[in-house]
Amino acid sequence: MATVTFDGATRVYPGSEKPAVDSLNLEIRDGEFLVLVGPSGCGKSTSLRMLAGLEDVNSGRILIGDRDVTNVTPKERDIAMVFQNYALYPHMTVADNMGFALKIAGVDKAEIRRRVEEAARILDLTQYLDRKPKALSGGQRQRVAMGRAIVRKPQVFLMDEPLSNLDAKLRVQTRTQIASLQRELGVTTVYVTHDQTEALTMGDRIAVLKDGILQQVASPDEMFSRPANAFVAGFIGSPAMNLGDWRVEGDSAKFGEATVMLPESVKSAIGSEDKVTIGIRPEGFEIAEPGIDTIPLKVTFVEHLGSDSYVYGTIAGEENEESRFGSGDNSETMVVRVPPERKVAQDQVINLRPRPGHIHFFSAVSGKRLGD
Ligand SMILES: Nc1ncnc2c1ncn2[C@@H]1O[C@H](COP(=O)(O)OP(=O)(O)OP(=O)(O)O)[C@@H](O)[C@H]1O
Ligand SMILES: [Mg+2]
Repeated sequence: MATVTFDGATRVYPGSEKPAVDSLNLEIRDGEFLVLVGPSGCGKSTSLRMLAGLEDVNSGRILIGDRDVTNVTPKERDIAMVFQNYALYPHMTVADNMGFALKIAGVDKAEIRRRVEEAARILDLTQYLDRKPKALSGGQRQRVAMGRAIVRKPQVFLMDEPLSNLDAKLRVQTRTQIASLQRELGVTTVYVTHDQTEALTMGDRIAVLKDGILQQVASPDEMFSRPANAFVAGFIGSPAMNLGDWRVEGDSAKFGEATVMLPESVKSAIGSEDKVTIGIRPEGFEIAEPGIDTIPLKVTFVEHLGSDSYVYGTIAGEENEESRFGSGDNSETMVVRVPPERKVAQDQVINLRPRPGHIHFFSAVSGKRLGD
């Protein structure tokens, strides 16, 4: 087992001026499950491939434990990768697939058999050891790919979207299995996904990347409750946080007919900026009586999901604003979670009060979190 350190690691692909990964600084603890997450093209796979030695590092360094591996070949890094495409050998049995890397490395037959059987037991694959991959389900193949990594007893596991070939239900099941298996084995793991739910449910910590730049590294809890900037705020959480720019007027921020008081720490951090980005999660509201501190919402649609209802709508008076307040990219619609027993009708106006501590403030200029 080992720590992993990205020390200013940068990758600029030939023919490109902008780095795919720009001065990445990230320290992964011994035994930690770290999830790298971000939108498509943000540099997740490139980061992982630099750590694996499959991609050049143009500046900066990569360390595994205390060892600088920046110029070490992939084979000598003592890592094992699991990719989206498991690339099992179709003509080999499950056991041979799992033991293949050990065979190449010259490990003796009895030891290979012992390690393969142990991995098969952990992964619940014992009864499939003599089958060929084509006679397995998607989830079983995924576990064989995991087994192939486990038998090598590496210092670090690298996984790049290993669940994206599975259907939704199996993905949920398998992500729990991988997370608990990793904890059992205690092997430092870097796991890449674009799925924020996977990140929140699996990681000890999450690192969010955007355009090759690290945005925040934090525990799932911290990432959810104190996003470092408006991008992370909108990316982590589902349905996405309601976000938009409000006008700063004295001690408060205004949007349409809604008013939100600015805490002292936020007010002083805003300085002379005349707008502030406000973020409130769908679950951050309660329905209230009309009042100066409430947000009037014109309901356009109500969705009942059994355990919750989601109310969609726009803030009264929003038509007079230059920008929009909504959940998700370029969305003009707000989303509010309400208890299912609370009956809300379409075309009604409801009054929402943000729950204490559930309003996030960001600079409308830099996107950075303001106040506490
Ligand atoms: N071999 C390459 N040559 C040139 N540019 C590349 C190469 N591989 C990736 N890129 C570019 O580098 C950036 C980061 O790519 P990367 O594959 O790391 O993204 P990603 O976060 O893994 O995305 P996805 O979620 O789609 O897999 C992208 O803009 C991509 O187009
Ligand atoms: Mg990728």
